[in-house]
Amino acid sequence: MADFLTIEGLSLADLEGLLEATRDNIPLAEGRAPTRATLAGLVVANLFFEDSTRTRCSFETAVHRLGGSVFNLTPAGSSLSKGESLLDTAQNIECMGVAAIVVRTAVSGGAKMVADGVRCPVINAGDGRHEHPTQALLDVATLLEEFGSVEGRTIAIVGDITNSRVARSTTHALTTLGARVRLVGPPTLVSPAFERITKGPGTVQTMTNLDAALEGIDAVIMLRVQLERAAGGGVSSDYRSMYGLTQERAARMPSHALIMHPGPLNRGTEIDDRVADDPIHSRILRQVTIGVAARMAVLENLLAPSGVLKKVSA
Ligand code: CP
Repeated sequence: MADFLTIEGLSLADLEGLLEATRDNIPLAEGRAPTRATLAGLVVANLFFEDSTRTRCSFETAVHRLGGSVFNLTPAGSSLSKGESLLDTAQNIECMGVAAIVVRTAVSGGAKMVADGVRCPVINAGDGRHEHPTQALLDVATLLEEFGSVEGRTIAIVGDITNSRVARSTTHALTTLGARVRLVGPPTLVSPAFERITKGPGTVQTMTNLDAALEGIDAVIMLRVQLERAAGGGVSSDYRSMYGLTQERAARMPSHALIMHPGPLNRGTEIDDRVADDPIHSRILRQVTIGVAARMAVLENLLAPSGVLKKVSA
């Protein structure tokens, strides 16, 4: 792979390879294994044109654990605030000799635009409503840690499906691996058109009744209502009672079912405190740890065989 922009179109072999590497990286992500020097001498640029806590910090941590250096650029304090474009910014940063650019942008397709305009590898850290491929890796890796395989498993993804890049990427990954995905939300935020998202052996079903959708599931991934994208449109005032994972609902789920969320949480809206913090079923913080392992896997996949390392060691 020259870039890592989408899960859509990723081959089963590439997906499985990245998930295997993610699993192997978990001890290092937890700080229980010695750091590696795979990225020694390399600089990675984190260009985050949208706010982030988990993705940005986990890319930083991943680079550090692999022996590389990383810097962050955000709109505040950079020339983006003077109107410099995404592409001009990326091209200027590339000229500083960075090995890879990690980009987050509100523009759907923005990561590809950057990738088309620079020569170094580009990693999509979330582009608008389009994709968030490393989130999909960490979501699936979290499920694999529990179940070994997701083939034939039923995963509900609940909330603002229309505006969610996580829903898109994670659905592509799960269906490639043969899972059954239920996309659940208010009719204004989930469209039957999403049932065509799958190209793999898995299936996608759209649903508007959360209680029915939680029957027989193996895991539920709750999504944040993205007020910055939806501007509140289509979200009713009784969202919690209809689409929130309340304690009462969680208690009716199968006893083995996992509770997940990409974060940040809107506690009391899409998920109740006690559900998010459930010590038995919640994997929300585990997802964060596995996120470091997933980002290490992507960075090594792009940079280790690219020749950049050979140039550095020559
Ligand atoms: N899950 C996720 O993308 O979180 P951040 O916006 O904090 O990076």
